[in-house]
This record gives sequence, C-alpha cells and structure tokens, in this order.
Amino acid sequence: MKFDVTRFSKAIKKLNFINQFEYYDEIDSTNSYLLKKQNLTDKTLVLAEFQFKGKGRLERKWFANAYENLTFSIGLIPELKTNELGYLNFCTALSIAEAIEKNAKCKVETKWPNDLLLGGKKFCGILIESQFEENHLSKSIIGIGLNVNQTVFQDEFKERTTSLRLSFNKNFKREEVLLKVLKQFSKNYLTLSKDINSIIKKWKSRCNSLGKEISLTNNKDIFTGIFEDVAEDGSLILNQNGKLLKLFSGDVTVIKE
Ligand code: BTN
Repeated sequence: MKFDVTRFSKAIKKLNFINQFEYYDEIDSTNSYLLKKQNLTDKTLVLAEFQFKGKGRLERKWFANAYENLTFSIGLIPELKTNELGYLNFCTALSIAEAIEKNAKCKVETKWPNDLLLGGKKFCGILIESQFEENHLSKSIIGIGLNVNQTVFQDEFKERTTSLRLSFNKNFKREEVLLKVLKQFSKNYLTLSKDINSIIKKWKSRCNSLGKEISLTNNKDIFTGIFEDVAEDGSLILNQNGKLLKLFSGDVTVIKE
C-alpha cells in the first residue's frame, strides 16, 4: 500500500519534533540526499518509497522493496561534540527498540554497533553519517532502514533477515510504525547529553552478545575475545586475555554463548 503522506504529515505536526518533512517516490539514498543538502534545517525528515542506491554500513548496499518498508533519514544539527558522536548510535537504536517493543509487546535485541534484531534476525539497520566543524558535529544524518511488511528477501540475506510482518505474523501500518519511532526518538534525543548513561544502560540490557566470546571482523582483520563493554563513544571494548582493545567498526559474531 502507498504511504499516506497527507495523513502522516498531519500527525507529524502534532509530534512537534520534525521541522521539515520531504517525501520522494524514488531517490538515490535519503542519507546521500541530506548529506548534500545545503542549509539543512535541523530535524528534517526525508522518507523515500524506494532508494536505487541505498547505502548500508561498511560500504554495503541496502535493498528494500517499495511499498513494504520504511527507508528514511533524519537530518540533525546536533549540539554534540565530535567525541559524542556515539551517543547518536545508542539513542537511535534504543528508540527503535523501545518503539517496536511498545507496539508489539516483545523483546528487541540490539547488535553492536547499531543493528536491531527480532528472534535473532535483523529487521532494522542504521547508518549515521556526519560532518564536523572544529570539535563539534555540524550535521548528522541518521539513516534508518526498517523492514516492515516485506516477506521475501534475496537469497544471500534471507537466513539472517526478518521483518515486523514475518516476526509477528501481521501487517503493520507503516505510518504508525514511523510515528512511534519518531516519538520515542524525540524523547531520547532531547535529553541525550543528560541521559546518556541511562540510554547506554538500556541499550546494553538488550544487547545480544555482551559478555560473550565473539569475533569481530572488519574489512582487514579478525579479532576474538570477550565482549567486555561499550564505551560512550560507541566503540566496542574487547577483552583479549586481560588486554582491553577498543574497536570502532566491524561485524560481531558470537562464538560461545
Ligand atoms: C546497515 O545495516 O548496514 C545500515 C542500513 C541503513 C539503511 C538506511 S535506509 C535509509 C538511509 N538511506 C540509505 O542509503 N541508507 C539508510
């Protein structure tokens, strides 16, 4: 079903958080669009029915069928220092988890750095791209791909991917899911600096691999050890026989529960 832009636009006004809303039937990538945009208005929401160059983390592609999912970005001018960039990861992932949990009374797991899982499978990915000026963030684009009603995924993804529809066996109204996510995000974002410890604590309580033996692979290396903790800057702290290593990107696999 087509996204109901008129109804959604009215509802979003009531939320009193998003300052500008743009909808596109088709776009290269909502993140790329906002990154290029001059004079960005803080809290601009861009939603696209279809992205033909959707981007994922680690230079991957993000594929999502039109009419079935949510692909959107929130353009922010955050009052955060460069070393506080990781706050946005925790805040976004937690907000989505809380919104879905409220909606469906279930447990959503967080997977470092910022995936969201239902029943061990990914249903939502987040890509945050930022620009900096001196020691602060001048622009952060929070890109979210949320699988809502899609039931068929490409072969290479289908084992580890799910959607709200597949997990709960019912169709969801995309406008309502997006509103709930934005509502929860606005709540957490507006108190971010003050509440970061409690946000991280809540993120950690949902994390699927914290305290376990993991391997972390990035494009060059593989690290193994115990997933000890996360730091405020968003990094993963790996314990390798008592030596603590801070890692900033990669994919985590649990080796031993
Ligand atoms: C990941 O899990 O690798 C992150 C996926 C992020 C996808 C979203 S969809 C909306 C926004 N625009 C993009 O091009 N990517 C993000």
